[in-house]
Amino acid sequence: MTEALTRDKLVEQFHSAFGKSGGALHHFYAPGRVNLIGEYTDFNGGLVLPCGIERGIHLLVRFKSAPHNSGNRKPEQTAEFASANLPERASINLAEPLVRNGKQWTNYPLGVFKEFINLDCPLQSMQLYYHGDVPDGAGLSSSAAIEVVTAFALNTLYSMQLPTTELALLSQRAENNFIGVQCGIMDQFAVAMATADHAIALNCYTHDYEQVPLESGDYRLLISNTGQRRELAGGEYNVRVEECNRAVELLKPATGASQLADITPQALRDNIHLLTDPLIRKRATHVIEEHNRVILATGMLKNNDLAGFGRLMIDSHQSLRDNFNVSSTPLDTMVELTLQAEGVLGSRMTGAGFGGCTVTLIHKDAIDDLIDKVTPVYTSKTKLTPEFYATRAAAGVREIIA
Ligand code: GLA
Repeated sequence: MTEALTRDKLVEQFHSAFGKSGGALHHFYAPGRVNLIGEYTDFNGGLVLPCGIERGIHLLVRFKSAPHNSGNRKPEQTAEFASANLPERASINLAEPLVRNGKQWTNYPLGVFKEFINLDCPLQSMQLYYHGDVPDGAGLSSSAAIEVVTAFALNTLYSMQLPTTELALLSQRAENNFIGVQCGIMDQFAVAMATADHAIALNCYTHDYEQVPLESGDYRLLISNTGQRRELAGGEYNVRVEECNRAVELLKPATGASQLADITPQALRDNIHLLTDPLIRKRATHVIEEHNRVILATGMLKNNDLAGFGRLMIDSHQSLRDNFNVSSTPLDTMVELTLQAEGVLGSRMTGAGFGGCTVTLIHKDAIDDLIDKVTPVYTSKTKLTPEFYATRAAAGVREIIA
């Protein structure tokens, strides 16, 4: 677990990447997130219910010169990036226009730097070292964790005084504009605002949110990584955004709604004839019903009705598979095998899909048995090696003071 990674180890890694001499090291941390229910509702103005996980990304930062240089000489402005997880390094001149570099991981922090430049933040030369254990391309928001931890660090080190919710929005802009994925606000918001032992019921249109206690008693969240990687940038994700926009355009004249989450399941049934394209019809059905499921699921969580919550997770998965077509054979296989195991109340794909992880609500005593039974069958069916991470709901981005 990176949350437990010792500072000594991190400092040692930083020094071997950038050398020992220099000023103080500043240490920040952001968790990944898992979404319990409410998938593909965020950019449709709907509700989501994610929480932080016990895996995350550490960031150590060092200034190469004093952070607020008041001399006449124009300060040098280079950001140097290195990571324990990926071999690519980058040294970027911040005085030049920042441009995306292929699929390099350094695009994520750079997109955030660009947003700070837009805010006239007086950036100076810095060295940044990232170390995480959120698997990338697995639907657990490793990219949002990198963005948010970078934004939190710059906000703190330059005393920009942006509220943490604002850092989430800034990180989303970085992803939309610099990376080119038209994602909603869920991931960045969850990573920024997560609270231990709570899920966040977030309205993605108003950004109103409520921290809902995850009092799961003997039940735990189990994340199952299918081992199938998914790529978001420029792919099917943006196609889904367009399909949802098309559905709203068609329903707007009759419903007055400017986003799918404003349409009730009944209003959709009354106007379904307006959606003649079966694909668009399925997309709208998923989003409108999924938004409604989050309302029901949040109520159930508050009433400690975990069995009801689990049933909604199963409905959510079926709709993502059949109506939104973002599941995959490995995800479906994992959910199917998981639901056959003892002690499971519900299971579904989580995040954008097309591979990545499932999330399961399971009795704590049944976890080991599930892993033992599911792994060989899953592997023989898919030829993939799964990984399992049991987690509690963990706290959001923060500075770690030595
Ligand atoms: C990705 C996006 C989120 C959200 C989910 C699907 O994680 O980044 O904004 O749309 O997919 O719910």
